[in-house]
Amino acid sequence: MYWLFNSSIGRKFIMSITGTCLVLFLLFHMTMNLVLVFSTEAYDMICEFLGANWYAVVATLALAGGFAIHILYGTWLTLQNKWARGAEGYSSGNKTPTEWAAKNMYVLGLLIFLGLVVHLCNFWYKMQFAELIHSPDAIAAGSGLVIELFSKGIYVVIYLAWLWTLWFHLTHGVWSAFQTLGWNNKTWYKRVHFIAYIVATIIALGFAVCPIYFSAVHLCNGTMTLF
Ligand code: HEM
Repeated sequence: MYWLFNSSIGRKFIMSITGTCLVLFLLFHMTMNLVLVFSTEAYDMICEFLGANWYAVVATLALAGGFAIHILYGTWLTLQNKWARGAEGYSSGNKTPTEWAAKNMYVLGLLIFLGLVVHLCNFWYKMQFAELIHSPDAIAAGSGLVIELFSKGIYVVIYLAWLWTLWFHLTHGVWSAFQTLGWNNKTWYKRVHFIAYIVATIIALGFAVCPIYFSAVHLCNGTMTLF
C-alpha cells in the first residue's frame, strides 16, 4: 500500500483509477442527457429516481470523493513534475493535439473544474441539494431547467467551450490511464491513442447534443436570448 502514496507511479495509478471512474460517470451522465432529446418525461423520471434518495446521495458523495482525489493528486503530480524538470517543462517536439493536451493537462483540468462549479450551480444546487435541505423551491424534474438554460446564448457558448476543454483533457487522460494500467506495449500504442480519441469524442459530442439541439429549438421558436 505504501507505494500507492509514496511513489510517482503510485500517484499515477490513483489518477488512472479515479479518472476511469469519472469517465464511466461521464458516459452514464451523457447517455442520460441524450434521453432528454427524445423524451422529457423519461428524463424527468430518471432525475426523480436520482433525487435525494440515500443511494443517489451515496453515489454523489463517492463521485465528489473521486473528483477531489483526482484534482488533489493531479496537483501533486504536476508540482512534482515541475520541480523535477525545472525550467525545461514537458519535453516533446511533437505538435499533435494529444501532445498539446499532454502539456496542458493541469490547466485543462482547472478549466473543467471551474466549468463544473458553474454547472453544479446551474443544476445540482437547484435540484438534489435544494431537495436535501428541504427548500420549497427544489426542482425534481430537470428537463425544464436544462431546456431553459439553453435558451440563453451565453450558456450555450460556455457549455460548448467547456466540452471542448473536456475533449482535450480526455484525449490525453484516457490514453495515459491505459498506459499506467499496463496497456503500453508497442502494438497497442497507436490503437490506445485511437481508442482515447473515440472515447473523448463520444463523450464531448454526446454532451454537446443538448445545448445544440435545444438552442436550435429556441432559435426556431424565437425564444432565444443572449443572457
Ligand atoms: C450539456 C451538458 C450537460 C447537461 C445538460 C448536464 C445536466 C445535469 C443535470 C440536470 C444535473 C442534475 C441532476 C440531478 O441532480 O439529479 C447534473 C448533475 C451533475 N453533472 Fe451534469 N450536465 C452536463 C454535462 C456535465 C459534464 C461535462 C460534467 C463533468 C465534467 C457534469 C458533471 C455533473 C455532476 C458531477 C453532477 C452532480 C451529480 C450528482 O448529483 O451526483 N455534467 N448535470
